[in-house]
Amino acid sequence: MKNTVRNIVGVASAIVAGILSFMPVITGERDIAIPAHHFDHAGLMMFGAIAGLSLYRTRGGDFESPRWIWPAILGPLVAMLLMSPSFYAIVDQSPFLHSLNHLLFAVVAGLTAYAGQRYVRGVGWAAALMLELMAVAAAFGYGVAPPIAAAATATQAAPNGTQSPADSVHGKQIFAQDCASCHGAAGAGGMGPSLKNEHIRKDQEAAAAWIKKPAPPMPTLYPSVLNDKDVRDVASFIESLK
Ligand code: HEC
Repeated sequence: MKNTVRNIVGVASAIVAGILSFMPVITGERDIAIPAHHFDHAGLMMFGAIAGLSLYRTRGGDFESPRWIWPAILGPLVAMLLMSPSFYAIVDQSPFLHSLNHLLFAVVAGLTAYAGQRYVRGVGWAAALMLELMAVAAAFGYGVAPPIAAAATATQAAPNGTQSPADSVHGKQIFAQDCASCHGAAGAGGMGPSLKNEHIRKDQEAAAAWIKKPAPPMPTLYPSVLNDKDVRDVASFIESLK
């Protein structure tokens, strides 16, 4: 009887996690606030973990084994990597890829919780809680860092104070290096908002001013990574996004 209840809870949670995962396909990608997006991940993981925890008991009896420590530890690590902004450019390509990424979150959470229980009963709960806290922390901006790798390319000297016209081809390169990880390869948004039709919200001057002095969580890349010309060029490029 007890196991019947657990089965029902487990299967129901797995179904909810599955439906939540495919929200990007069901609703079409739309811009939602970044914290909301990460809370969505937290929800996915919670239902995945509940499914994993429920599954454990349906077998009955204790059958702990030291080997299960591996998936219990590696699960949260994989989840952390999946949540890193470097992945957004890939995930951003289609709602379907985005959904698969979500599904992976749920599966990883389920596996982590289940494996923890198989290792020593109770560890599954602790591991699931850890994952959950990580996802909630992400909603508050944890893990967002400026793209350091791009720093080297941006330090070419600016032409001596002369205001050469903005070069949006160069701006496009800058965008791919320093902005696409958050705003999407085509500027359609990711962890950062969509920049399509940015010219309606900000003219080129306002966009450049924003890039020089953005509000968190967008990183300030000027003047450490981008020089004046870089800022002008990338501002000119995003103004052209439709
Ligand atoms: C770490 C992620 C991240 C990176 C990298 C990043 N941005 Fe952003 N960007 C954001 C976020 C998040 C916001 C929204 C901030 C807000 O509204 O408070 C934003 C907002 C903006 C806006 C304002 C959009 C509006 O509402 O008008 C512009 C313009 C912009 N970014 C351009 C860029 C450009 C150009 C680059 C590259 C040089 C860049 N961003 C790099 C995360 C990022």
